[in-house]
Amino acid sequence: MTAVKLRAMSRNRLVVGNWKMHGSRAANKALLDALLAGLGGADGVECAVCPPFPYLQQVSERLKGSALACGAQNVSEHEQGAFTGEVSAAMLAEFGCRYVIVGHSERRQLYGESDARVAAKFAAAQRAGLTPILCVGETLEEREAGKTEDVVARQLDAVAIDPNARAVLAYEPVWAIGTGRNATPQQAQAVHAFLRKKLAPGTRILYGGSVKAQNAAALFAMPDIDGGLIGGASLAAQDFIGIVKAATTAASERTGT
Ligand code: PGA
Repeated sequence: MTAVKLRAMSRNRLVVGNWKMHGSRAANKALLDALLAGLGGADGVECAVCPPFPYLQQVSERLKGSALACGAQNVSEHEQGAFTGEVSAAMLAEFGCRYVIVGHSERRQLYGESDARVAAKFAAAQRAGLTPILCVGETLEEREAGKTEDVVARQLDAVAIDPNARAVLAYEPVWAIGTGRNATPQQAQAVHAFLRKKLAPGTRILYGGSVKAQNAAALFAMPDIDGGLIGGASLAAQDFIGIVKAATTAASERTGT
């Protein structure tokens, strides 16, 4: 077996649903019931959902004892204090979160989060024992100007990833998010391979941006794509389950089981 294949095998697949600002107590209950019924024990694949803050308690209680983990979509870089409207990493941990997304392009673009702030959030998450999911990705303009690698390298280098600490990276080209236009498996793989060289071999790199049950298998078959960060398709149980199934198949192909 090649060294590359051996290293790839050590990275468990991960599929994370980013619910964004969607949901209600009733809708969440229906979605979680359907996910828990349909996912079973997704072998070799870790799964998580990231609801809006007010629903963390509802979601983490419902998921207790299941294979589906809970995460949050954002976190304060501060531990506590006069930061109106913010939520600390310790609070997320207390409400059962294992993961937290940091630096999503919507946070960077709509709420002006700088690389430095994203780095501070990333560090705060790790201090509280959470696994941060750091999002990086270029705009269409940046891609067309040939700057994709420069942009993702800048975003990643701003966050000094300790190779021994828990962390996940997500490559999410901005032009693919919510547009129905996913990066091709080859486009995504090229960026993942570039990012891989900057990371410890065991660090997982997810692809995000219009992942659907129909395109997930081809994306997850790429050697440096370790799973997905799923927006729209995480709100419909059958779509999310279809994506997790694609990851399960890809995982078994990678290990040859
Ligand atoms: P999408 O969103 O799957 O709806 O494109 C992905 C994301 O924003 O994480």
